[in-house]
Amino acid sequence: MQTLAALEAEALVCTRCRLAEGRTQVVFGVGDPHADLMFVGEAPGREEDLRGEPFVGRSGQLLDKLVLEEMGLTRDQFYIGNTLLCRPPGNRDPQADEIELCRPYLEGKIELIDPKVIITLGNFATKLLLNTTDGITKVRGKTYPYGGRKLVPTFHPSAALQGGGGEVIAKMRADLVRAKRELAAKR
Ligand code: URA
Repeated sequence: MQTLAALEAEALVCTRCRLAEGRTQVVFGVGDPHADLMFVGEAPGREEDLRGEPFVGRSGQLLDKLVLEEMGLTRDQFYIGNTLLCRPPGNRDPQADEIELCRPYLEGKIELIDPKVIITLGNFATKLLLNTTDGITKVRGKTYPYGGRKLVPTFHPSAALQGGGGEVIAKMRADLVRAKRELAAKR
């Protein structure tokens, strides 16, 4: 059976899509490799591309604060990664072929980490893993089954930073509380 370290080693030299040309480095993901909780965001931004770690910019700082306040968890207690492992130029949206080519890394990580609960952040991760075209505003507020696991979709923290403000944050808090309940429940 493959290990997470082997999958990471493979990903770090990946050239499956055009994003390999513009990246500083691959941002594979960080955290507890056996975590019960896994977050899936969109794609690395400028800070993440430079540092090689997901969610280290403003979105990540907001997320860390909300997760600590609502779930009592810090980075070493969960795993966090993205739908795409490489930064799209100028932070443009991920493209459909990039998502498909990167998907085996995400699915491999989910299999190997084996989390009980997955929280998807924003439209890209949510639509991919729930296999839906419905947007995050419509699907959030519920728990979904995902291959024997629980999936809790919520807004991307950038939605709160880009003007969604208090209302988006309140909904994110409610979703994190939902995920905490799912973590406490039997699988
Ligand atoms: N936004 C994301 O979706 N992922 C990151 O790692 C940073 C910002």
